[in-house]
Amino acid sequence: MKVTVVGAGAVGASCAEYIAIKDFAAEVVILDIKEGYAEGKAMDLMQTASLNGFDTKVVGSTNDYSKTAGSDVCVITSGIPRKPGMTREELIGINAGIVKTVSSNLIEHSPNTIIIVVSNPMDTMTYLVHKTTSLPKNRIIGMGGALDSARFKFRLAEALGCPISDVDGMVIGGHSDKGMVPMTAKAVRNGVPVSEFLSPERLEQVSADTKVGGATLTGLLGTSAWYAPGAAVSELVKAIALDSKKMFPCSSLLEGEFGLNDLCIGVPVILGKNGIEKIVEIDLSDAEKAKMIESAEGVKKTNGLLEL
Ligand code: LAC
Repeated sequence: MKVTVVGAGAVGASCAEYIAIKDFAAEVVILDIKEGYAEGKAMDLMQTASLNGFDTKVVGSTNDYSKTAGSDVCVITSGIPRKPGMTREELIGINAGIVKTVSSNLIEHSPNTIIIVVSNPMDTMTYLVHKTTSLPKNRIIGMGGALDSARFKFRLAEALGCPISDVDGMVIGGHSDKGMVPMTAKAVRNGVPVSEFLSPERLEQVSADTKVGGATLTGLLGTSAWYAPGAAVSELVKAIALDSKKMFPCSSLLEGEFGLNDLCIGVPVILGKNGIEKIVEIDLSDAEKAKMIESAEGVKKTNGLLEL
């Protein structure tokens, strides 16, 4: 398994680090336009190999796409991150141009790759890759729901006063402050619905805190978060590398599933060696359906800003 990560900023470097540490890939190539930056991050990471016990080879390059040739998975993190007070949608102008160029360069050297889009506004950037490349739809995946679900589990465990490993739950919908749909009614603590332990008001607070998970961190850090985004990407790449058929919410092109069409939005999917092996059409309650429709309207509005 060869993986390319485009963008050696905090998110890209964190992706590369977690992929290397989990030791399932033969090689990770990090690419950046800033002279020497990716080479530096790669060398620094390689010098952790004997300490952290991994054999993954990490290579850095200043924008030389020939180094990425034959990548099984390419992760696009490039673009500008949001600053405090900004929405992900405000990044569209600059990031659309970058994502379009990067995806075309990647596919030129790895025509059969699977692309994971992280750049924001992520659902719209994922849709852009569908619209501007000829990759089949199962090979274009947007990373948002895996991260949002991790933040949801963190908030659930906080409310329950229990370890995070005790809880499970999923966030579907758009990867935006307003668009996320944390599925509180389906969340469980060791198989027991969390509504048995938490009041509707507390659950509503968990949901609200989850939705502004990224914005809260941007306020604290002055820029976008990186540990959880990097870890979430590494788990998607691992599921593809190991063909594990694990289920994650990912931004996927919908063609009628969940009653939605012609957009990419977070829904449960099975990941394996072919990327998205299946979109899992779980039953949604009326309330969840209504939230999904509203979320889809938001994503489509942002898609409308693309110059396709
Ligand atoms: C976040 C960015 C990666 O949610 O969208 O932290």
